This record gives sequence, C-alpha cells and structure tokens, in this order.
Amino acid sequence: MKDKKRILTGVTTSGTPHIGNLVGAVLPAIEASKSKDTDSFLFLADYHSLIKNHEPELTHSSSFEVAATWLSCGLDPKKVTFYRQSDVPQIMELAWVLGCLTAKGLLNRSHAYKAAVANNDQEGSADPDRGITMGLFNYPILMAADILMFNADLVPVGNDQKQHLEMTRDIANRFNHHYGKIFTIPEDQISDEAGIIPGLDGRKMSKSYGNIIPIFTDTNNLSKLIKRIKTNSLEPGQPKQPSGCNLFKILKAFGSAQEIEDMRRSYEEGLGWGKIKEVLIEIIDNRLRPFREEYQRIVLDRHYLEITLKEGAEKARAVAAPVLRRVRGAVGIKGF
Ligand code: TRP
Repeated sequence: MKDKKRILTGVTTSGTPHIGNLVGAVLPAIEASKSKDTDSFLFLADYHSLIKNHEPELTHSSSFEVAATWLSCGLDPKKVTFYRQSDVPQIMELAWVLGCLTAKGLLNRSHAYKAAVANNDQEGSADPDRGITMGLFNYPILMAADILMFNADLVPVGNDQKQHLEMTRDIANRFNHHYGKIFTIPEDQISDEAGIIPGLDGRKMSKSYGNIIPIFTDTNNLSKLIKRIKTNSLEPGQPKQPSGCNLFKILKAFGSAQEIEDMRRSYEEGLGWGKIKEVLIEIIDNRLRPFREEYQRIVLDRHYLEITLKEGAEKARAVAAPVLRRVRGAVGIKGF
C-alpha cells in the first residue's frame, strides 16, 4: 500500500509555456515535489491536446516544449514520476471502462461542452453540436482516467478544472459502489488566482488572449514585450502607486524581498515608467537566464529528454498495470 500522499497533475501540451505558467504552476509543483511526505506524478496530457489541435507538427513541438520546460525549470525526474500520457496505454483502457458507467447526462452538463453549444446557438446554427467532437465531449472521462489510474489523493489544478474533479469523484464513486472499492476519491487543490500574473494587456496571462511573455524568449524580445505593457500617464517625478499596478504585480512574482522593497520606494519617489520597466526587465531576465540556458541545452540534446520520459513512463506503467488488472477483474474481463 502507498504510504505517502500522492499528488498528480497533468499539463495539456498546447501552446508555448509562458511566465504565468511558470509562477502559477511549474515552480509551485516543482517545489511541492521536493517534499518527503508526498509522491508526485506529473504528466504531459498529449492525448488531451488533440481535441484542440489537428496539426501533427504542432502537437509534436508543443509536447517537446512543455516537457523541456519542466526539466529546465528544475524538475528532478528522479524525485517524481514524469511521463507522457500516451506512453501509458492503461489510461486509455481505463477511460473506456469508466465511460461505460458514466451517464451521458453528466457530460452534457460539462462547462466546456455547454459553452460550445451556447456558442453554436449564438451563431444561429441549426445544429447545437456543430463542430463539437467526441474528444471535447469525452474530455472529462479521459481526465478521470488520468487521475484514478494512479489513485491520486490530491490534484493541483486551476479554478477552471474544478468541475472536472467533481466529475472524477462522481465517476470513481459510481465505480466503487458498483464493482467494489478500487479507486481513491481525489481532492482538488485549486491554485490561488490572486497569485496569477497579468498579461501584456492587463488581463490574466493566457495563450487564448494572446498576451503572453514566453519563458524562453531572449533578452531583446523580453524587453520589447515588457515595454508594451500599458501604464498610466504619470510623469517622472510624480509618485506612483505600487498596489494595483500590473508591472508591480509581475515584479512581485520575480523579485527578491529586497528588490520588491527597493521598487516600492522607487514608485513613491516617482521614478519614471521607462526606468521602472528597465529595472523590471533586468530582474526578470536574471531570473529566467538559468532556465533559458538549461532549455537550450535540452534542445540540443533531445535524446536526454526522450530517455527521461521513457524512464518516467516505465515507472508510471508499473503503477498503472496492477490497478488496471484489478479493474478488469472487477468488471469481469479476465481469463477463463
Ligand atoms: N485539463 C487539465 C487542464 O487543462 C489538464 C489535465 C489533463 C489534468 N488531465 C489531468 C490536470 C489530470 C490534472 C489531472 O489544465
């Protein structure tokens, strides 16, 4: 039996990882993975990414980028189980079994599905399901399989994933009730939205808003992006308010206590926005540099990444295989 608390989380492999992902998810998860009381499972949800993306090149490169991000930002693959979803075929098998006892009505109530239907309605489509794939519809079942396969206790996710965790618990309870107790009922751990940094336009940084600062961009581009952030029209010499200021929010995520204090004073003393941005650029650049260098190293040594994921997949399959065996036995799929 497992003695440590099991923490599991997945990252859909789509889009370029940005500094919001870094401070909101990547670094906290790496920090959590160092605890001796927990066992961390971290995976690339590459099959999930297919619901939004049908370009093989992009699927492949996104998967690489996300995997390389975790390693270059300090994840120690020896301390966690780090794998690609697609390398653990047991997850797919489990998803089918779970789907066979999940009410369609449950999935009809999924926020993502309902939003897609509402969108069709708004556009005046006669078919409410226009353009909606079974992948989108079944997404919560695959996610439940990701989680239940490893009997996770705790699942750190963003607020938008809360319903998926509720559905996972629902599905697990239904299975346990009907076939006997096999699955752990997982809890969600919702990340603190207040800690999420603003994007270039002041809204939450998100690839869907196109307002991101990539983690691995070079100094020059980083500088260009930061300079695009809108500020108010206070002149140099006029005191400025740190609270509520987007630049200051970003600084707080990246600066040391001393740097934050110094900047607070500079605001009060009326440093100009241009100068404030220069300081911010330097602080972020210094913080990102080691990650960037490690990323470059991995880009040149793809083999290392591949081996690491293969080893992770082996560890993951060793956990998944006996669980799936029990599931198959429980539902009556077994040898004669
Ligand atoms: N749906 C999650 C997201 O978009 C990604 C994900 C897939 C996941 N499977 C998971 C997260 C299992 C936690 C556990 O963020």
